[in-house]
Formats: sequence, C-alpha cells, structure tokens
Amino acid sequence: MENKGTPVNTGGVEAAAERKQRTGRITRNFFLHMHAPRVHIHAMKPSYTFGLGLITGFLFLIMLFTGVILMIYYTPSVESAYRSVKDIVYIVPGGRIIRNMHRWASQGMLIVVWLHLLRVFYTGSYLGNRSLNWVIGVVLMILILLSNFSGYLLPWDQLAYWAVTIGSNIAASARELTDLLGITVAFDPGGFLKKLLIGGETVGQPALSRFFAMHVIFLPLSMLVLMGVHFWRIRKDGGLSRPAVFAGEKGAENKLYAWPVLMWTELAILLGVVAVILFIALVADAPLLEEANPAFPENPAKSPWYFLGIQEMVSYSAFAGGLLVPLLYLVFLFSIPYRDREERYVGVWFSGAEGARVTGRSAVFALLLVIVQLFVMERFGWLRDWFPGISQWLVMLINPATITGLCFILVAEWIRRNHGSTRLAAMGLFTMSFVALVVFTVVGIWFRGPNWEFFWSVNQWPVQ
Ligand code: HEM
Repeated sequence: MENKGTPVNTGGVEAAAERKQRTGRITRNFFLHMHAPRVHIHAMKPSYTFGLGLITGFLFLIMLFTGVILMIYYTPSVESAYRSVKDIVYIVPGGRIIRNMHRWASQGMLIVVWLHLLRVFYTGSYLGNRSLNWVIGVVLMILILLSNFSGYLLPWDQLAYWAVTIGSNIAASARELTDLLGITVAFDPGGFLKKLLIGGETVGQPALSRFFAMHVIFLPLSMLVLMGVHFWRIRKDGGLSRPAVFAGEKGAENKLYAWPVLMWTELAILLGVVAVILFIALVADAPLLEEANPAFPENPAKSPWYFLGIQEMVSYSAFAGGLLVPLLYLVFLFSIPYRDREERYVGVWFSGAEGARVTGRSAVFALLLVIVQLFVMERFGWLRDWFPGISQWLVMLINPATITGLCFILVAEWIRRNHGSTRLAAMGLFTMSFVALVVFTVVGIWFRGPNWEFFWSVNQWPVQ
C-alpha cells in the first residue's frame, strides 16, 4: 500500500526500494519533475501558501488554452475585429463560454497573483536567497497587467476603445512636466511612450496590431519563460520558505514524498479552478458594448479597473499620479528584498505579534489619510479652487497622490527608527501603499461618474 503522508523513512532495504520508486516517479516525469521528490511538511500546510501561486499558474493555463481557440476565429483588423468577436459569441459553438472563460481567468489571475504577492510578502518569503525570485515575481505581475491591458482592446468595442485611449494618455503623463519645463517640442518622453504603445496619437489599426502581437506572442512567451525560471528558483532556493526553527535541517528530516499525495492534491486544485472559472463563465458574460466609435467618447471614459487607481491619481496631476508615484511604487516593490535583510523573520506570518500590530495600524492610518484627503478635496476643493492663479508646479507637487506617498515614506522611516527593524518598516510601507492603491481603485471604479466627478452611486449620474 502507498504510504500517504508519512515522513520519509531513511533506513532499511524496503525503505530504500520505496524511496527509489517514489523518487523515480518524480524525476522521470517531465511535469512532475518541477517538484523536488521530497517536500518539507511546512510547505504542505494549506494555511501557509493557500495554493495561490499554483492557482495563478493554473489560471494561466486556462488562459493559454482558451486563448488559442479564440485566436482561430479572431481577426485583428479594425474593420472586422468587432464582427469576429460577435461571431465568437453568437455563432461559433461554445464560443461564448470559451470567451467568458478567457476573460474571467485573466481577471482572476490579476487578483490571485496579488494575493500570492501578499502571502509571499507577509511571510517574509523574499528574504535571503529568495530575493531574485521576488524580483522575477514582480516582473511577472507587470506582465500579467500588460497582458490584461493588451487583451482589453481586441474586441474593438466602445469599452475597449476608450479604456485604451485613457490608458495611452496615462502613458503620456510625463508631458505635464516637459510642458512646464517648455521642452516638449525637443524632448517628449511621454509622447514617445504613447507612440510606442499605440503607434500614433490616437488608437487605430497600428494600436490594434501592436496589442494583438503583444497579447498573443510576446507576453505569453515571456510569461512562460519567466514562470519556468520562477519554479526552477523555488527548487534552487531549497523549496518553499520555512521558519528558522527548521532552517538547519538537512536531508530527509521532516519531509514527505511529493508523490502521490501532493500530486493528487494539485490535480484536485486544477480541477477546482477549472470548475470555478467554468461556472462563472456560465453565469456571467464578458462585456461587449457597441462597436468602437472614435467620434463618440464615453463619459466617463475609464481605463480598465486595475488602472483606475492610477487614473484617479492622474485626475490630481498627470505627472505625479501617472508617472512619479507609480514609478516610486515599482522601485519600492523591486527593492524590498535588498533594503530589508532580516532573515530571522523568514516564514513567519507578519513576523510575529509586533509585525501584525504594525501592519494593522499602518492599514488604518493609510485608510484614514486617503479618505480624509478625498473628503477635503470633494467638500472644499483643492489648490486650484482656492487660488485660481496658482502655479501648475504647485498643483503637480502638492496633491493627494504626492502627500500620501510622502507621508508613507516618513511614517516608514519613523517605524524603522522606533522599532529598529527594516522588516517592520517595509511591512508598514507595503501595507500603507497597498491600502492606498485599493482605496484609489475603489473610488475610481464606484465613485467617479461623468467628467470624473464624485457620485455616491451610478443612480445619481446626470442623464446625458
Ligand atoms: C505568473 C505569476 C506567478 C506564478 C504562476 C507564481 C507561482 C508560484 C508558485 C506555484 C509558488 C509556490 C508556492 C505557492 O503556491 O505560493 C511560488 C512561490 C513564490 N513566488 Fe510566485 N508566482 C507568480 C508571481 C509571483 C509574484 C508576483 C511574486 C512576488 C512579487 C512571487 C514571488 C514568489 C516567491 C518569493 C516564492 C517563494 C515563496 C516561498 O519560498 O515561500 N511570485 N510562486
């Protein structure tokens, strides 16, 4: 009988034969070989990883599979893209379900990868030799965002057209600064980025061709390669992270064979993920509005929901909200493992009780800070309303996006000095910026209406 879940036995002829058999299963099979033959018991605890990385990977597989089928029917030209998507939905047998699955799997991937990032961060799993895998992870997260964004345009409906128009304008955010400096004619990095993205000043065939190529070739291939490296690094880094109490262990101590229990569990998770996505695809259709019409802008024209936090900040200042703050945030994300090197916290949720307290307080502080600023802005206006003639430099430099960022950096520095810990400071800064991102995004999704004005609900929007 198979030994299910008992620790690896290290002695005896029988045990050696069993070890060989189980190890062989893993090492001879290409797919199973991604796993080490033996896995530490701590890594198997569902409450440690929640299987989030795995679920992200499975969602990616669903995206690939459904994407290849969609590609057979889709035509990437502005004349026929919309018609081809309509054909997929209304004529191709099973086309609607495949399209829905593709859409919901890609949106799901965005959410789950963030949850995975949060898990990795709050368990200190980027510390020590795992820093490189954290960096690879951040790149993967950016690629997932780009993959979603590039797919958004393909249906060529009103939603897609205006969302990507807004997105491409965000790419040109640097123009606020170069305009103020009076150098845009000679040096226009914002315009360059926008042109690189959409191939011109407005969204048209060059944009659709670029987005299509990025969406079906460049991004999936890059993700495949990087995921391979990500998984390989997990093995090279000695399996998943675990608390220091297990750190000195060598060999088979506290390990279980990956075959068969872990393998079957993973297969069950795969089937579960497919079932959930299929269910959502059956009950909810991916949106498809009328065909794109460059002459009729949507009002409000909103970028895809995952960029609405940035669009909200852009409404305060294009340069600060669309470039400066997001760039600083990315620099922070990439640099976390290199600023914080307190390896004693590896594998411990929130680094213990003190860390949990810092995390909770940081979250409340960020929530209050952002909400109070938004309240002031909506109730009393901001600099331009108080001093109509004020210099645009001040509007660009002093707004809720920059004030929020600056306050967070100061508070993180205070945590570092007060607690004498870079890990706690990183947790504070990470938590505050994540909460702010969520609040800005929520405001962008639910509380902004025509002309980007604040409304408590869609029912209050003026009839247009
Ligand atoms: C396409 C996206 C991604 C996929 C498919 C993926 C997949 C995985 C899987 C399967 C694991 C094993 C444990 C688990 O399930 O949690 C893992 C671990 C890890 N991931 Fe990801 N991941 C992705 C993105 C990210 C991101 C965005 C980050 C962080 C920025 C990240 C950082 C890490 C690190 C550091 C580990 C090792 C964790 C440990 O040792 O406990 N990954 N990833």
